[in-house]
Amino acid sequence: LWREIERVIKEAPLRQMSTPGGQKMSVRTTSCGEVGWVSDRKGYRYTACDPESNCPWPALPEAFLHLAQTAATEAGYAGFVPDSCLINRYDPGTRMSLHQDKDERDFAAPIVSVSLGFDAVFLFGGLRRNDRPSRTRLYHGDVVVWGGPARLRFHGVLPIASSADGPHPLIGPHRFNLTLRKAS
Ligand code: SIN
Ligand code: FE2
Repeated sequence: LWREIERVIKEAPLRQMSTPGGQKMSVRTTSCGEVGWVSDRKGYRYTACDPESNCPWPALPEAFLHLAQTAATEAGYAGFVPDSCLINRYDPGTRMSLHQDKDERDFAAPIVSVSLGFDAVFLFGGLRRNDRPSRTRLYHGDVVVWGGPARLRFHGVLPIASSADGPHPLIGPHRFNLTLRKAS
């Protein structure tokens, strides 16, 4: 997975996107697949081209596809065919506030999320923003799948702390998260 992440970010470098409200997101983001998720003053959406390069996003690596399909099947969502993977890099202190994944064309397919590097506290809320979220620590190699009645549940990540064990030998002083979606 790491080799493929390195290949993708060489072709489509990580960048800090802005929210529609004009605030910079704290995480650094890129994508691969037929479409990639972008955010700017015009809103959140999926595009076929990387707006930085005006080139198509890098292809979805076979290893991502295989992991996503295996995990989805194990969680009860056989037949998942993702066409996009969002790659987020969290440096210590960065976070992801509570949100729903709802920019995809339909919500029949689940979300598969892969954690690498530093641990994170994952917040998993309800269908309403104000529902109190549960907290689950996600470790290097953990995979979370949510779909069906949970597909639109609010979720987020508390600010990342650097690990007392030091940086992961491959991943460095970061957390990487892959989220695989069927977007179009
Ligand atoms: C996301 O919701 O896009 C990221 C979730 C995570 O980093 O675990
Ligand atoms: Fe999300």
